[in-house]
Parts: sequence; C-alpha cells; structure tokens
Amino acid sequence: MFDINRIRSDFPILGTKVYGKSLVYADNAASTQKPSQVIDSIKDLYSNHYANIHRGVHHLSQKSTALYEGARGTVKDFINASKVEEIVFVRGTTEGVNLVASSYLEPRLDPGDEILISEMEHHSNIIPWQLTAERTGAKLKIIPLLENGELDISKLPDLLTPQVKLVAVTHMSNSLGTLNDISPIIERAHNMGIPVLVDGAQSIAHMPIDVQALDCDFFVFSGHKIYGPTGIGVLYAKEDHLLSMKPYQGGGDMIMNVSFEKTEYNDIPYKFEAGTPNIEGTIGMAAALDYVSGLGIEVIDSYEQELLVYATERFSEIEGLQIIGTAPRKGSIISFVLDGIHPHDVGTIMDMEGVAVRTGHHCTQPVMDYYNIPATTRVSLSFYNTMGEIDEIAKAISKVKELMG
Ligand code: ALA
Repeated sequence: MFDINRIRSDFPILGTKVYGKSLVYADNAASTQKPSQVIDSIKDLYSNHYANIHRGVHHLSQKSTALYEGARGTVKDFINASKVEEIVFVRGTTEGVNLVASSYLEPRLDPGDEILISEMEHHSNIIPWQLTAERTGAKLKIIPLLENGELDISKLPDLLTPQVKLVAVTHMSNSLGTLNDISPIIERAHNMGIPVLVDGAQSIAHMPIDVQALDCDFFVFSGHKIYGPTGIGVLYAKEDHLLSMKPYQGGGDMIMNVSFEKTEYNDIPYKFEAGTPNIEGTIGMAAALDYVSGLGIEVIDSYEQELLVYATERFSEIEGLQIIGTAPRKGSIISFVLDGIHPHDVGTIMDMEGVAVRTGHHCTQPVMDYYNIPATTRVSLSFYNTMGEIDEIAKAISKVKELMG
C-alpha cells in the first residue's frame, strides 16, 4: 500500500542491532520512534532560528515565535479545531488532564458531585480526578468493562446522573487496544449538559481526529506517541471553556499586567502557558504531525489494521497464549498472557531476540484487576512495522515457550 522500505529509512533507529539481531520495535504504545524530519527540525531550530519566544523584538526571537505559533496552527489543522486559541501546549497528556481537573472542574465541584470515568482508563486519566475529588468531596463513578475489553455502555443511562459534572474517557485503550465509540457517550452526556474529556494519547497516532465532529469539550494527547519529542503535548479545549477557566500555573507570559495588588491575565491560550515553554518540542511535534499528514492518517490506519489482523491470527496459533482484549474495534495493540510464564520473563527473553515489547500493568491496574492478572505482554505496532516483523515476534514468543516451558 505504501513503500515500507522508504518509510523505514526515515527512522534511523530502526536499523539498530540488539544483541546482534535486527531490532523489532513493538513498543509504540509506550513511545514512538522519530523520523529524520523531526530530528532535523530540532537541529535546524537550534542551528538557525533559536531564541526565546514572545519576548524579543530581535530577529531570532521573531523567527522562533513564528515557528512556535506556526506549530499551533499545524496542531489546529491536524485535529480540526476551529481556532488556534483552542490549542494549549502542555507537557503531555498527563498535564492536559491535570490542567482540566484543576482549572476547569475543581472550581465547579461541590461535595456529592460525581466524575464519570471508565474501568479501562490509564492512571493518568484516573488519579487527577481522584485528587480533585479528594479536595472537593466529589466522587468517582466508573463505566464498567465487558469481558472482551469493550465498555459496558448499557450502564450509561444509570451512571449519567445530574450529579455528574464531567465525563473523562479514553478513545483507545493502551492496554487492551479497544477503540471506544465515544460519539454516543459524548452525545448522551451533552444531552444532560455534561462536558466530556477524551484521552487521545493512543488514538492520535492511529486514526483521523476531528474534534469538531466529535464535539468533545476537551481532547488531550502527547507528542511522543505520534513520532514527536517527549515533554510536549496538547490540550484542546472549546474556546468558551478556556475563557471560563482559572489559570493553571502562574509565571511569565501568562499575564497582561502585574502589580502587587492585582494581576491581569493574558488572552487564551497564553494564559495557560506560564514560563518559557518547550519551544523545540513544539516545533518537533509539528514536524511529526506534518510527517504523519504526508503519509496520510487514513492510509496509516488501514495498514495498521492489516498488521493487527495478521498479528492476531499469528499469535492465536500459539498454544497457551491468550489475548487480553478482543473487542471488535481495536487499534494495533495486542496484549497477551502465556500459560504459566510471567510477562517479565516473556519480555526479557523476547528482548534477547531483538524484540522490544512492554510488560507490566501498563499504568492500568484496574484493567489487570478486572482480568485477575498481574500483568500482560503488550505488542504495539506502528506503520513502520512489517508482516515479516510479526513473524519474528511470533518466533520470539515460541522461543520463550521453549526456554521456559
Ligand atoms: N502510556 C504509555 C504506555 O501505555 C507509557 O506504555
């Protein structure tokens, strides 16, 4: 469908040897590798354009500012936000959720109010709400999981009570791969005037995102999971919400006027970007989004679905292997357990074969509790993976069985 060899040659790290074997990188849900286009954009910034932004009349500051604000436009277009003012640069998904919890939700919560999340959330979409609930006397309610890894949406009518002040739900599970059909959740919540935050940490790299079509109130994602740098991410929020929110952190650049008596805050989105931001991260993330747009996110999506189908077939043939998360709509993630073998041993032996996977609870301990397992081994695939690599992964799993069996 596309020239996989050319695409792979954009990612210098994919040529790495691990213990003398060709690297098979299948830990993309934890973090993705970076194409030369991203690496070069950061080198170019430091070599030719770098200075602090928004603060200097001098040439380099103007250039850096233009690149930084250009990146905001790139993000806006990538997720089809209606205005650049709705794009706030944050440290990552985690900071985006914490920002909404502190600046949007907390001032609106009274004791007895409720926050509705789901049983498949990453810890970063649980703990910020828990902290907010502890501080305000509110409580968490949970949309339960079904055995196949889907959410039990039939429980929504009972869960969405007038006490619920926000729904926060993942678009794609990082430990199960489940793609949630979030539009009906958003619609139902909106019918009751309840805003919805979508955790797009995983979905952003695998499918087209249109925040206006979704009509979500908040959407968060991290640059490093979509081939960009670490330490940079995005909070999308509807303009009216941002206008109504108190600042998250105080510092330089988020103000209009400061005196000891009173401070006037800057316009959105700057009001939420205190201090010198991650300039190089922002510009690198925009280069990553341009790269993904160049390949075409629909093309990526359909190729990754082929990888998922093939990997699911191959792994299902392995005796004693059980896939955890078998929802009909999944992104390219396959979590599994092997009879009688601890996932850490699985991951360690696979590493010796050159295969990088993540083992553990994947920051989703409630999911592990639901399945009554301590951990899984997770294969998470990207558009730069190949069918041949899936064969190598299957071989590595067989090797684990041979050594541990
Ligand atoms: N959230 C990342 C993962 O799923 C770190 O591995």
